[in-house]
Amino acid sequence: MWEKVQETVSYIKNSTNFSPEYGVILGSGLGSFTDDMQVAFTLPYDEIPNFPVSTVLGHKGALVFGTIGDKKVVAMQGRFHFYEGYSMKEVTFPVRVMKYLGVEKLIVSNASGGVNPNYKVGSIVIIKDHINMAPEHPLRGKNDERFGPRFVNMSEPYSRKMIVKAKEIAIDLNIEVHDGIYLGLQGPTFETLAEYRMVKILGADCVGMSTVPEVIVARHMDVETFGVSVITDMGDEENIDTVSHDEVLEAAKKAEPNVRNLIKELIVRY
Ligand code: HPA
Repeated sequence: MWEKVQETVSYIKNSTNFSPEYGVILGSGLGSFTDDMQVAFTLPYDEIPNFPVSTVLGHKGALVFGTIGDKKVVAMQGRFHFYEGYSMKEVTFPVRVMKYLGVEKLIVSNASGGVNPNYKVGSIVIIKDHINMAPEHPLRGKNDERFGPRFVNMSEPYSRKMIVKAKEIAIDLNIEVHDGIYLGLQGPTFETLAEYRMVKILGADCVGMSTVPEVIVARHMDVETFGVSVITDMGDEENIDTVSHDEVLEAAKKAEPNVRNLIKELIVRY
């Protein structure tokens, strides 16, 4: 793994000569974030050695390098999901690559189903913690100490300082935000009503099929992380029958300008 990561990093460094400080993973329907960047280079995933290739509708696959204000950023346009068939090591490979390109702070976005009754479709949730219920762990197997320790401290998976800054920005920009706990499942089915209830009982506010593995791997390498989720459907009796991928994409699109501005300002001001 170490050698593969370094090989990919060398290839990217040779092609772009760019050392980003911020990494951003763009979730469902949030891909237009790159419109806010002064783009310097775009590398399609299929041109990057050792990179998996994304297959899901609504996910474009490319690493986009550029600046926001005076900050250097690499954005993942399209991520890899466990339900697509990738192993958790493949899902998180790009996070390892980002780290050795120079990334110190990772911002992750996603779409999720809400189980907190204070949420509604379109709510923006700053992720303050997560519950990992995915069936495979990205750090399972022999640990390579060059990446990080065997037993990773997860007391602060999401940077408290970044959360405070993002909340300040949300007030300044007049964007309504919540904070909440994200529970990660494998998908690709949406949850049954009983499963949404379980998610709520377990203490989470929203549920999705991504983010948790990437955040674990970022924390393994001591990368500071920030996560934001758009509630695209509500997992309750009244709303469960309508949930579909189209609904998810449409709701994510509506919240997109606010999420974009929040992330952009966080990068500029943090
Ligand atoms: N469940 C799981 N993943 C999701 C959902 C959901 O309701 N909405 C968007 N991604």
